[in-house]
Amino acid sequence: MSKPNICVLDTAEAIADAVAQHVARTLVAKPQATLGLATGKTFISIYASLVRHYRQEGFSFAEAASFNLDEYVGLPDGHPASFRSYMNENLFRHVDLPSEQAQLPGVEGDLDLACAAYEEAIKARGGIDLQLLGIGQNGHIGFNEPGSAFDSRTRMVELTASTIAANTSDFPPGETPPGHAVTMGIGTILEAREIVLVALGAKKAEVLLSAFEKPASRECPASALLGHPNVTVYCDAAASALLSGRR
Ligand code: F6R
Repeated sequence: MSKPNICVLDTAEAIADAVAQHVARTLVAKPQATLGLATGKTFISIYASLVRHYRQEGFSFAEAASFNLDEYVGLPDGHPASFRSYMNENLFRHVDLPSEQAQLPGVEGDLDLACAAYEEAIKARGGIDLQLLGIGQNGHIGFNEPGSAFDSRTRMVELTASTIAANTSDFPPGETPPGHAVTMGIGTILEAREIVLVALGAKKAEVLLSAFEKPASRECPASALLGHPNVTVYCDAAASALLSGRR
């Protein structure tokens, strides 16, 4: 078990900038890098900062590839709350990443086949160099809800009531998120060469404590990251309030 590097910064802006610079460094060092991407409220300002750095510094995504963690099952094409729409809006339409190199899990047709194809596509790219993660208040990473096996692979999952409640505000008024999604597995995530997890706000404080300062347990999927040698957690003071290993 290895502890992640915990990097505490004062403001959400400082974190967005630091994570954007982390991604930029990866792309400058390896223009063909394969990125694992996350969605969620936490990443909106991070992608905005990444786009600013991209415009100012002129590094390129042209040879890179990306694989998103997850996508809802059952939303019509182009739904504004789909993770494809989120990525188009917040990152893809602003940078030179070719659309065929920007993948999200397939959520149509035979899902077992689509999930196996996603795993194959990641493997064919040589694996993920840098995986970005948020964290759910229930400890989920991707949509690996509590109870998920640490060796799980890309698959369809049922979302918990708390995840559906947390994400309802991303949907147009009167709509709720679908009950199912396809997510990379915890085993898939752990194969990334480097992992960056970002947590903002007091409501993530308890879960950071459970994930990183208690024994690893399926009840807190993010605690699986204790088994990975290269994890950096970027968090603000409120999210880090209960951690002893902060710096
Ligand atoms: C998003 C994802 C989720 C979110 C998590 C935190 O692709 O897989 O694990 O990272 O639910 O979401 P926010 O940032 O909205 O608190």
